[in-house]
Amino acid sequence: MSADPITIFRKTWGTYQKVISHNLMFHREITTAVAKLFESRPGPLHLIDLGCGDASHISKLLRPGQLSEYCGCDLSEFALDEARKNLEPFGVAINLCCKDMLSALREAPANHYEIVYSSYALHHLPVEGKQTVFTECRRALRDNGVLILVDVMRNEAQERQEYLYSYNKTVRTQWEALTPDERNQVQEHIRSCDFPEPASTLEQLARNAGFTKCRRLEKQTWHEAWCYET
Ligand SMILES: C[S@@+](CC[C@H](N)C(=O)[O-])C[C@H]1O[C@@H](n2cnc3c(N)ncnc32)[C@H](O)[C@@H]1O
Repeated sequence: MSADPITIFRKTWGTYQKVISHNLMFHREITTAVAKLFESRPGPLHLIDLGCGDASHISKLLRPGQLSEYCGCDLSEFALDEARKNLEPFGVAINLCCKDMLSALREAPANHYEIVYSSYALHHLPVEGKQTVFTECRRALRDNGVLILVDVMRNEAQERQEYLYSYNKTVRTQWEALTPDERNQVQEHIRSCDFPEPASTLEQLARNAGFTKCRRLEKQTWHEAWCYET
């Protein structure tokens, strides 16, 4: 008999927490790099977080008082329940919606946010969807706003199949902190859900949308952090 969605969610989310705690996706280095950018934007900030998950990552990047509004969207209601708890200490207007990031962005007011943030979620979309995300982000951002993107990115000229092979080989041979069952679960998720682009493709999508300053903040193997400004 197959497990119910809550059990499946808890299992995969538990594995993701283990990935984070063993720094297998370089959250530590990426957090340090992105934190510097947040320090230069004291706020109070209106921020939208696309694919926010349980918001544990972003809540470590922000200081109390730095936010005036947090809007988070995610496809998982269970993750949003956790996000609600993790964001409680900020004591500001928290709006969490269980929606696809494209729908959430299309409903967002124009010229409203100082920051659009997205971490390890955009690669789930096809390239056309990614273009729409950049375009809608530009519309939702104020003129001095910034889009911060943390995600997996293929090496330049690396085809998706080659990326899947290399990333999964790393999971199989180097992610020793996970059990064999967890490693299989991660590899299956990557094969079915990962559609990363090279950084140059994302930069082109950003420029098409009207962003003119595109800067890499961090790169650790396929894990990168970028900021895109107007
Ligand atoms: C690897 S988790 C990252 C969570 C969090 N941003 C972090 O960095 O810890 C990816 C999240 O993206 C969400 N997600 C995937 N596709 C999405 C979409 N099209 N719209 C909104 N959320 C999405 C998933 O439900 C999941 O919570």
